[in-house]
Amino acid sequence: MSRQDQVDLLKRLLHYVDTRTTAMADSPWRNEVSVYTCAERLAEEQRVLFRKHPLVMGFGSDWATPGSYSTDDYAGLPILVVRGRDEKLRAFLNVCRHRGAKVADGCGSARVFSCPYHAWTYDLAGKLAGIPDERCFPDVRSERNSLVELPLCEKYGLVWVIPTADGTASFDIDPWLGGLGGELASYGFGSWSFYDRRVIPETMNWKIVVDTFNEGYHIGFLHRDSLRDVLMGNVNDFEAFGLNHRLTFPRRKLERLKAEPEESWDLMWNTSMVYLLFPNTVLIVQGDHVELARVFPREGRTDRSVMDLGLYVPKAPVTAEERAHWDKNMQLVLDVVTGEDFPTGRSIQIGLTSGAQNHLVYGRNEPAMIHYHQSMREALGLRA
Ligand code: FES
Ligand SMILES: [Fe+2]
Repeated sequence: MSRQDQVDLLKRLLHYVDTRTTAMADSPWRNEVSVYTCAERLAEEQRVLFRKHPLVMGFGSDWATPGSYSTDDYAGLPILVVRGRDEKLRAFLNVCRHRGAKVADGCGSARVFSCPYHAWTYDLAGKLAGIPDERCFPDVRSERNSLVELPLCEKYGLVWVIPTADGTASFDIDPWLGGLGGELASYGFGSWSFYDRRVIPETMNWKIVVDTFNEGYHIGFLHRDSLRDVLMGNVNDFEAFGLNHRLTFPRRKLERLKAEPEESWDLMWNTSMVYLLFPNTVLIVQGDHVELARVFPREGRTDRSVMDLGLYVPKAPVTAEERAHWDKNMQLVLDVVTGEDFPTGRSIQIGLTSGAQNHLVYGRNEPAMIHYHQSMREALGLRA
């Protein structure tokens, strides 16, 4: 974000604080309860959002050197991402071309991938390298000479994959970002380091997990013993970028800026910024570090989800003191999100399936909720 945009955003937040207001939608919006409970709706989300839209896979630095690889099945498909000897990052369906076993497991560093079943091997560019007793497979190598590749984009220090094989190996993320690219670039995530990760399975719809990060209305209440002393409740700046958005939460110390010269104002230290990278990724800029939450439905059920939460830092820690600082931050987000937000999310899922009502209502002070769910309707081709 440019320096001027940062100052303008801080000025908007100070104005909201002074006038006891917040970014507002034009009117409240009612969303159907079935969005969170209907199996057909989930099937449509999986068919469209988790197949045809780019999904964030992580920071580019997760695959730091040639041979670095990771695998996951979150999107409902086994995906392998690996950095080649040419430094290029590639994504493949993690499916052996012999009889379909996974060729790689977990994450780590590899020189080749050898299928555990019959040891067909693949190089880091996905090419089929070896078939034991190949005379038994005449003409097969020419017909299936590599893993099936998925389109991948590494840009702004982040990595996206579209989980549908269409014969292409890459795509440009910019048309999907609605103008957010320059702002993402300004953080310089390309040189950041992974610090820690948690995989958190939940018993609520995956969109309730995302909704956790979509408004600040609840901070003064649900988080009265944790975040209320740090963040102001019910005060947010909101900006949409196509289907994506940025929601900025002012820290309580923001008011001190009024007594300080504008040149010294620091956006990151005085706010928490939540970027929603449509459809399922939440990138939270927290002063001196970033949390990346990737959220998926689980087990094909409307009331099952999983959040993969990673903590990234500008520089890999070298001292015990630095590690203690990042550990404390990881624990803080876990305490708040899994200790306070998610129990409420579980109760919401139960409430939604109770039949108490057909619609939920998002207030004018919840513009990111409205934008997110209207964006989803648009992406699914539903009427606005
Ligand atoms: S399934 Fe992979 S080698 Fe047979
Ligand atoms: Fe919360």
